[in-house]
Amino acid sequence: MESLAMLVLLFFSQGQSSTPEVEKRSTCDRCDERLFCNCSSRNYRHVPTVTVTEVVTLDLSFNDITTVAEDDLREYTWLRTLDLRSNRIQSIHEWAFHLLQGLESLDLSYNQLAALNPVWFSKLLSLQHLNLLGNCYRTLGPGGTLSLFRSLIRLRFLRFGNPALEEVRRGDLAGVRQLDQLEVYGNNLKRYDPGSIGDLWPLRVVTLRLRGPFQDNLTLVSSIFHDVSYSETFLVVADVLLLEKTSVAPFSEINQRRLRSILFQNATLTDEAIIHFLEVMDWASLESFGLEDATFHGTGAWKPARQTHLVNMDTVYFRNIEVVKVFKFTSFLNLGFLLKYLRQISIINCKVYVMPCLTSHLLTQLEYLDLSSNLLTDLTLTESLCHGHGILRNLRVINVSDNALKSISIISKLVTRLDKLIHLDISQNAYTSMPPTCSWPQTLTHLNISWAKLQRVTHCLPLTLEILDLGHNDLTAFHSVALPVLRELHLSGNKLRRLPPGWLFPSLEVLLIQSNTLNMFGPMDLQLYRKLRALQAGQNRFVCSCEFVYFMVWRWGGAVEGSVELTDRWDNYLCDSPLPLQVI
Ligand SMILES: *[C@@H]1O[C@H](CO)[C@@H](O)[C@H](O)[C@H]1NC(C)=O
Ligand SMILES: *[C@@H]1O[C@H](CO)[C@@H](O)[C@H](O)[C@H]1NC(C)=O
Ligand SMILES: *[C@@H]1O[C@H](CO)[C@@H](O)[C@H](O)[C@H]1NC(C)=O
Ligand SMILES: *[C@@H]1O[C@H](CO)[C@@H](O)[C@H](O)[C@H]1NC(C)=O
Ligand SMILES: *[C@@H]1O[C@H](CO)[C@@H](O)[C@H](O)[C@H]1NC(C)=O
Repeated sequence: MESLAMLVLLFFSQGQSSTPEVEKRSTCDRCDERLFCNCSSRNYRHVPTVTVTEVVTLDLSFNDITTVAEDDLREYTWLRTLDLRSNRIQSIHEWAFHLLQGLESLDLSYNQLAALNPVWFSKLLSLQHLNLLGNCYRTLGPGGTLSLFRSLIRLRFLRFGNPALEEVRRGDLAGVRQLDQLEVYGNNLKRYDPGSIGDLWPLRVVTLRLRGPFQDNLTLVSSIFHDVSYSETFLVVADVLLLEKTSVAPFSEINQRRLRSILFQNATLTDEAIIHFLEVMDWASLESFGLEDATFHGTGAWKPARQTHLVNMDTVYFRNIEVVKVFKFTSFLNLGFLLKYLRQISIINCKVYVMPCLTSHLLTQLEYLDLSSNLLTDLTLTESLCHGHGILRNLRVINVSDNALKSISIISKLVTRLDKLIHLDISQNAYTSMPPTCSWPQTLTHLNISWAKLQRVTHCLPLTLEILDLGHNDLTAFHSVALPVLRELHLSGNKLRRLPPGWLFPSLEVLLIQSNTLNMFGPMDLQLYRKLRALQAGQNRFVCSCEFVYFMVWRWGGAVEGSVELTDRWDNYLCDSPLPLQVI
């Protein structure tokens, strides 16, 4: 009822304001050499003309276009991409797109189309991407034998639906085959004929917004799940509210269809719902479970979770989750039967302050642990990594970026016995200094300590490193620590006045040292780097001596064999002094 009232209101308000418009067509001159015209956000009220011919990409998004007339696109027969999203389009002439036979991508999302017309698309034989989200049509075309999409034999990416969409009928998607990605906004869907989406394949990614149906009609949800779940499908279930036992019943469908990956997005869940989800998924093929931008009500009292057999479960991914009763939340201990299979865990930005060592004990297969953007401290990480006793022996990658860690000495002790660890990301923490020496696993090749407050480097850095990121610290010098196998060194955003001596890094291939306070460097400095191929050193405070300018011009002018390539843009290299050359 509510949406109908809205529609009526909309209809009247527009009926009143529309006056016959006799406007000269505007011209858009924002075209580039790739025949891409970016006419976005320019307040156009009609499709403009452009200043070049044979335009390939036309971006008309975020304008005030209300109609697309028969001749509006006549000069655009070369188009491959047409973006009309976020205008106020209410009507499109039946033949408006008929000359666009090479069109591969059409975006009509977020307009005001109250009905969709099959004739629009009948000549778009090359179309691969079609986005129809966010309008106000209630059905997909007139129904009957006239499927909207029957000519779109190349279609691979389809998005449709809006808050007004009420039904998807058998035959609505006739003609579409081999769809790769599908998104359906059906938060207020009332009717779905079983089988309507059933012929699309392989459906690599499917996103379903089914808030209303999850509350009112679980049969409908089951029918859709049945139609979109293939074992290769990555299913995203969005905007839902899963509060009690019954609401998860439709997931038995994806269990039967042997789906392997599911992600809940923008969802509200309780532990009761999750427990029953696990039960419904007993013996499922599920390998990957994710939860993103979600609210979780519950205390982590998983007691009633009976032993669920999810022996294929490999990956869990949690990101941006608000746990409403965070201080009552106990742990995942009761899910131990599940934890023992996991190889990858990401819990990002979920206010995690500790993972109990007892939990870590259960994660015997774990290879990848991402706890970035949480509230870990040295103390709680010590607990999570079980005081460095080498529990979690299979870990290859640890990411504790963006927490509240302060001591490099502690982290090094915690990981030193993880003898498969390759990659350690401790960036965006509060480190201010390095101890004189540290002990690390012999396998460690990637270390990221960027975005901290380090002023000096010491022999704490492991000799095994191949990639080291120390960008965005407060380093003023880097001249005493040799790293024999280092291939990539990131030092941008520090306060270095000179290039580090090249002989320290005999294997270095890539050096990034932008935005420091380098005054100059020359051929002699570069020669010391025996293997360097790529250098980025822009945005420094160069003193433009004749020698340096000559060197730079020569550098850009023509590559000398074996020389280092400057891979940032030349206009990053500006003179800071002498004064007459300073660019302000
Ligand atoms: C097109 O122009 C808009 C507005 O001026 C801008 O926001 C957008 O980034 C541009 N798109 C591209 C691909 O350059
Ligand atoms: C639920 O949806 C199915 C499939 O569209 C439909 O047949 C049925 O009538 C709906 N039930 C209710 C209670 O709306
Ligand atoms: C999340 O879901 C709610 C309820 O359906 C919806 O109103 C909101 O727009 C959604 N948010 C996003 C970012 O999609
Ligand atoms: C670690 O997490 C941060 C923040 O979430 C992310 O930017 C970074 O790419 C991650 N590092 C790895 C190695 O995945
Ligand atoms: C190191 O971490 C920062 C911030 O988390 C990230 O932006 C950067 O890409 C990482 N560096 C490397 C080499 O992956």
